[in-house]
Amino acid sequence: MDFKKPIEEIIRKRYSCRTYINEKLDENSIGKINDFLQLTEKGPFNNRVKFILVDTGKTEEKLKIGTYGMISGARYFIVGIMNKKSINFTDFGYLMEKIILKATELDYGTVWLGSAFNTKTFSNLVDLEDNDIIPAISPIGKIARNKRNVDKIISWWIKARKRKKWVDLFFIDQFTKPLTVEKSAPFALPLEMLRLAPSARNDQPWRVVKINDLLHFYLKTQSKYSLEIYKSMRFIDIGIAMSHFELTAKEKQLDGKWVVKNPQIVPQPKNYKYIATWITK
Ligand SMILES: Cc1cc2nc3c(=O)[nH]c(=O)nc-3n(C[C@H](O)[C@H](O)[C@H](O)COP(=O)(O)O)c2cc1C
Repeated sequence: MDFKKPIEEIIRKRYSCRTYINEKLDENSIGKINDFLQLTEKGPFNNRVKFILVDTGKTEEKLKIGTYGMISGARYFIVGIMNKKSINFTDFGYLMEKIILKATELDYGTVWLGSAFNTKTFSNLVDLEDNDIIPAISPIGKIARNKRNVDKIISWWIKARKRKKWVDLFFIDQFTKPLTVEKSAPFALPLEMLRLAPSARNDQPWRVVKINDLLHFYLKTQSKYSLEIYKSMRFIDIGIAMSHFELTAKEKQLDGKWVVKNPQIVPQPKNYKYIATWITK
C-alpha cells in the first residue's frame, strides 16, 4: 500500500468516526476506493484478506445492521473477508488497518466495527464462499462536521482519545523495566505511532519489549471466561499495532521484517502471549 502523505500525519488524523453525511459517492471516488481495496499484500503470518466495498443504497438506520444507533448516515461499508480454514486475526487487523489509513489519507471517515454489526445482513450483501467469515467491517464516507451527542458520549465513555503511557506498554530487556523514549532510539516514532493505534474498546492490549535491536511484540490476553469474539478482537488489535509500527519504521528507513523468535523472557506475566519480533534488516 502506497501512501502519499507522511504516515505520522495520517495516523494522527484517524479517529473513529460515527457520524457520516448520507451522500452517494461519485463514480471516480468509488473507483479510487475499489483500487486501494485490491490489496495483494499478505500479513506478517502470510495470509491475505479480501476487501469489498458495499453500497447498501440505504443508510445504516434503515439497513438494521445492528449498530444500535451508534453509527449514523453510513451508506458504504468496507467488508473484510477471511476463510475460516486459514483465519488469522492478526493478519486481518494488520491488513485492514492499512485500508483504514488509506481511507483516512483520502479524507474519508471510518470506524472499525468488530462486534456491533449484524453479520447476517452483511453476509447477504457480499458473495461469501464456503467457510468465509467477516471478522470486521467499517463504514466509509464523508465525515459529518457536527458530531451527534451519541457520538460524543461513546467517545467520552470509552475514553477514545486516551492512550496508556509508555511505561505501561514498552519495556527494555525485562517486563519490569520500562523503556524510555531516549533508550528506544531509533524506534521512538514507530512506537509512538503504535501507541496511537485504535483497539476494540480502547483496551490497548499490546506490549513491546526491546532487547538490543530486536522488538518483541506481546498480546495481553483476556481471561479464559471472556467471549470468543472479544478474544479474537485482541488479535486484530495486535495486528493493527504491528501495522502502525511497521509503516512508520519503513518510512523512517528502518526497514525490517517480522519473525517468530520468542526470547523466552523470564519472568513473563502469565496473561502475556508472545506474537512476533521485528528485526531490522
Ligand atoms: C478491532 C476493533 C473493533 C472495534 N469495534 C467497535 C464496535 O463494534 N463499535 C464501535 O463503536 N467501535 C468499535 N471500535 C472502535 C474503538 O472503540 C476505537 O478505536 C477506540 O475507542 C479508540 O478510539 P479512536 O479510534 O477514536 O482512536 C473497534 C475498534 C477495533 C480496533
